[in-house]
Order: sequence, then structure tokens, then C-alpha cells
Amino acid sequence: MKKEIYYFSGTGNSLVVARNIAEKIDAKLTPISSVIDKENIEIDADVIGIIFPFYYLNSTGMPLIISRFIKKLTNISKKYIFAVCTYGGSPYLVIKNLSKIIESSGGKLAAGFGVHMPQCAFKKPFENKKKILDKTEKKVDIICEYITSQKKGRYETDNIFVRLIVVLIRPIAIKEGLKSFKKLAKLPDSSNLSFEELILLSDNSYYTDEKCNGCGICSKICPVNNIKIINNKPVWQNHCENCLACFNWCPKEAIHGGIAPNEYKYHHPDVKLSDMLRQN
Ligand SMILES: Cc1cc2nc3c(=O)[nH]c(=O)nc-3n(C[C@H](O)[C@H](O)[C@H](O)COP(=O)(O)O)c2cc1C
Ligand code: SF4
Ligand code: SF4
Repeated sequence: MKKEIYYFSGTGNSLVVARNIAEKIDAKLTPISSVIDKENIEIDADVIGIIFPFYYLNSTGMPLIISRFIKKLTNISKKYIFAVCTYGGSPYLVIKNLSKIIESSGGKLAAGFGVHMPQCAFKKPFENKKKILDKTEKKVDIICEYITSQKKGRYETDNIFVRLIVVLIRPIAIKEGLKSFKKLAKLPDSSNLSFEELILLSDNSYYTDEKCNGCGICSKICPVNNIKIINNKPVWQNHCENCLACFNWCPKEAIHGGIAPNEYKYHHPDVKLSDMLRQN
């Protein structure tokens, strides 16, 4: 039985989960960014895994590239499809949202899991990264056991306590999200662009300081080729996924702006720059 895992990752959390699952279930590992430019994506495997980070509590909960990827899939009606979302605080309803997109593409999500990982976008108070990372392997084992026996029906979400908190803070996240992304996109409050359109333009807020030496790593690491090096400096191209890869992997820490605070840099400790560069 052929198995293939497609992943997207900016700071390595989802890559580690994808890598570990692929190794345990003997699946081929493919970065979504390497196939996304195709018109249609036909997958010659019986089992398909989709692994990605949770983005935007105020929206669908998934990077824009994930829905683009699913909409391009063809002939998926007979496949066993599973998904894993890595998240820093809550996976909310992302698995349910994902299942709807898969259904509209003619497939069915057999199972969806959430894996709690360190928060990559801001310093979370009281977060114990080591403790969180120590639990990854156990969770990966549970997922692999479920997939290997081809079980169906598990759609993971928050426990009831977290769910209640999320329900309370989500309206604020929706209002503030729109406001802050207009700011990142450098558009006035009166702009009518949707949140999804603003995400693509959020790279308008990125800039570099004098430490930038024009090495081009940011351009090579960007999973959606959104950075051109012009006159030895990165120039963002306004189709940003907001994955924070350029910001976190710049060896000179020369990139500023974006959604993450300047002083907070993160990538998964088991992931090297060379692993990330393979995404393209
Ligand atoms: C743009 C962006 C938005 C995020 N939004 C959320 C969020 O709303 N809730 C959450 O739990 N984590 C959020 N996170 C954190 C990531 O989901 C988490 O750290 C994930 O494991 C990162 O995966 P990666 O290292 O594979 O990119 C966000 C991260 C980014 C970059
Ligand atoms: S990775 Fe950093 S130092 Fe290299 S070109 Fe990009 S911004 Fe400049
Ligand atoms: S420009 Fe930076 S944040 Fe945007 S998609 Fe590329 S690497 Fe990610």
C-alpha cells in the first residue's frame, strides 16, 4: 500500500511531525510547496497525509496554501486521507474546516489530529518548550497506530475548557486580526480587503537592517518564492503565507517587521536550515 505525506512548515514543527510519521508508517515525504504550482495534483498513493501548522484563530485555522493544495487534488474519492495540524495554543475547528474543503474536492477526511507544539509566533507566557516537545513522540505513536489500522472518524479539537476560552476570545481575534493585518499590509483602516487578501500583503511590513549581507537564504527558504534578491537585498513580492521562515532562519537576524516580535526567534531544535531548504 502506497503512502504519501504532504507537509507545509515555516519553523520546523510540522516538518518534524511529518518526518516522524513518515518514518514510522513508511510513507514518502513531499513538501506541498514543491507541487503547488501544478495545475492539478494527482497523487499515486492509497494513503495521503496532510500536515501543516495552525494559523489564524480568526479564520479557517490553516495556511492559505493548504486550501489551494486541496483544491488542486484530483481523483481522491477512494483514498484514505488523514491530516495533522500542529498548533501553539489551540487547533480549534481546523480539522472540521479542512474536512469541508476535502469534501468539496471529492474526497473524505478519514481522521484529523492536533499536535501541541511550541508557539512559533510569539513568546507564550509559562510555555515549557521542552515539556511540550517531549510529548511529541507519544502523540505521533498514537496517530500512527490509528492510521496504520485505517480507522476512521476521529476529528480532534480542544478539550471543553480550552474550547470555552477560545469561544470567548475569538470575536476579539476576528476584530483585532483584521485591524492588525491592515496595518501589516500598510493599508488604511478603511480598506475593504478580506482577511485572506491582507495575509498575502502582510509582507509589506518586512524590512532589513544593516546586518543583511545579501546571502539570499531568505529567498531560498521561502516556501512560496515570495522573496527576490535585488541589489543584494530581499524584496518581498506580496504573496506571503506568513510562515515566518525568512524571519526566523535569516542567519544575521536582519529581518524585522511581520507578525512576530523582533526579539522572539524560534525554530524546532531538531530541524536544520538544510532540512528547511528542501521544501522548495
Ligand atoms: C501566522 C501564524 C499564525 C498562528 N496562529 C496561531 C493560532 O491562532 N493559534 C495557535 O495555537 N497557534 C498559532 N500559531 C502557532 C503555530 O501554529 C505553531 O507554532 C506551529 O506548530 C508552527 O508550525 P511550523 O513550525 O511547522 O511552522 C501561528 C503561527 C503563525 C506563523
Ligand atoms: S537571509 Fe538575512 S542576511 Fe541573508 S539576504 Fe536575507 S535578510 Fe539578508
Ligand atoms: S516571505 Fe517569509 S513569511 Fe512570507 S511566505 Fe516567504 S518565508 Fe514565509
